[in-house]
Amino acid sequence: MTLFPTDFLWGGATAANQYEGGALEGGKGLSICDVLTGGSLTKKRKLTWKNPQSGETGYADLAPRKPLVLPEGAVPAVLENEYYPSHKAVDFYHHYKEDIALAAEMGFKAFRMSVNWARIFPNGDDAMPNEEGLQFYDDVFDELKKYNIEPLVTMSHYEIPLNLVLNYGGWKNRKLIDFFENYARVLFTRYKGKVKYWLTFNEIDNIKGYPLICAGVPEYSEQAIAQAAHNMFVASAKAVKLKNEIDPDMMVGQMLAYMPIYPISCNPKDQLLVLEKERDALFFSDVQVGGYYPNYKLKEYERKGITLETGKDDFYLLREYPCEFIGFSCYKSMVVSSEDPEKRNLKNPYLKESEWGWAIDPDCLRLTLNTLYDRYHKPLWIVENGLGAEDQLVDGKVHDSYRISYLRDSVKSISDAIHLDGVEVMGLTVWGWIDIVSAGTGEMKKRYGLVYVDLDDEGHGTCKRYRKDSFYWYQNVILSNGENLG
Ligand code: BG6
Repeated sequence: MTLFPTDFLWGGATAANQYEGGALEGGKGLSICDVLTGGSLTKKRKLTWKNPQSGETGYADLAPRKPLVLPEGAVPAVLENEYYPSHKAVDFYHHYKEDIALAAEMGFKAFRMSVNWARIFPNGDDAMPNEEGLQFYDDVFDELKKYNIEPLVTMSHYEIPLNLVLNYGGWKNRKLIDFFENYARVLFTRYKGKVKYWLTFNEIDNIKGYPLICAGVPEYSEQAIAQAAHNMFVASAKAVKLKNEIDPDMMVGQMLAYMPIYPISCNPKDQLLVLEKERDALFFSDVQVGGYYPNYKLKEYERKGITLETGKDDFYLLREYPCEFIGFSCYKSMVVSSEDPEKRNLKNPYLKESEWGWAIDPDCLRLTLNTLYDRYHKPLWIVENGLGAEDQLVDGKVHDSYRISYLRDSVKSISDAIHLDGVEVMGLTVWGWIDIVSAGTGEMKKRYGLVYVDLDDEGHGTCKRYRKDSFYWYQNVILSNGENLG
């Protein structure tokens, strides 16, 4: 029995700031991620700054749910002699032909990547796009086409031109709606016929914890976050409207970070907390996919005195131009307790954890797929899932049975959602199908790839690519359309 549809889009996912490199080449401007240092589990990533008057330089913390605090007169800046993982990343910029050939060898049907906004509009507010940047992505899309691989393109994946942060305060400024609309128009017009699937903002719901990285908003206030999210919703709706005008065959999706949340006990208070925490993510799809602000959020804004600056067409746009599919990332599940509602990472005694403390939950994809499908009845695409682990390269080989086991459970979970529950699933793009820089920690050591890249946390190494055991495993999965799970 065939469990997966014949047009199921198997593939892998990446993001420009973690993969592409060439950050200072081809006329690209600086993005917010280009001023972030590397790090590790124990040494947190920092943002570097400079005071242009005094020449003083330094490092600022990037803690979740905290504002970015810089000394008077200091601005985020690239410092000499500092290592920035996004600048070279794993150098897709110069290896795209080789990498796409590897993806094709595995049998990929889809290749998720992001366009770096600052490669197209170096300052975000430029009148004209950067032709060299446009040409680079043309070359990449042409290369994918050679192998019949569909690009799935995120328009902003944890990067935003630095100028839009410094001079506009990021997405809390409504001017960004116009800049993004212009960017979307350029992308859709230029890549019409080459790119069918688009995602607007990566993991938009993470704005609550990371407003700077998600939306270029340096302060931490619920008012600023609500406004930034609203502006992004309107920009997303405008992108859907635009693609209808430019190429109705394209599909624009939402991209949500989602994880199932379990109550620590059957105490009803714990279940109420689950409801609340789930809404932290679902609010974003309620608006971007459902097309309206849900009452629970309006009530919350009322209670907190949050008011939105809106345009006269905003709510009409949200209603008329919702996203057409939901792309989501899902790596783990979470446990909450009403005794300590803010505490994350409570241990689940039924699950093992990755070396980075992420719960390995074989059922999290089926649960997520059902939750989202029951609520929206729109097609779903698992655009990120995978296991970050430390790999050993020995004699050119990596025996990553732990990754195969994780991914096997994921494929089974998706298959159950399709054939037991009838969920409409478009595809799976395994996260970091080739080793890339970790977004959270800024290190290379946390590897998700089915292909190993010889680079360390400081960017030293040959950059050579090696096929891991999981490469061959996934190749068989794709070849058998999910029947042969090894
Ligand atoms: C998602 C992001 O949150 O998780 C990716 O969209 C990120 O950019 C991925 O890389 C895995 O997280 P990390 O911190 O292990 O890289």
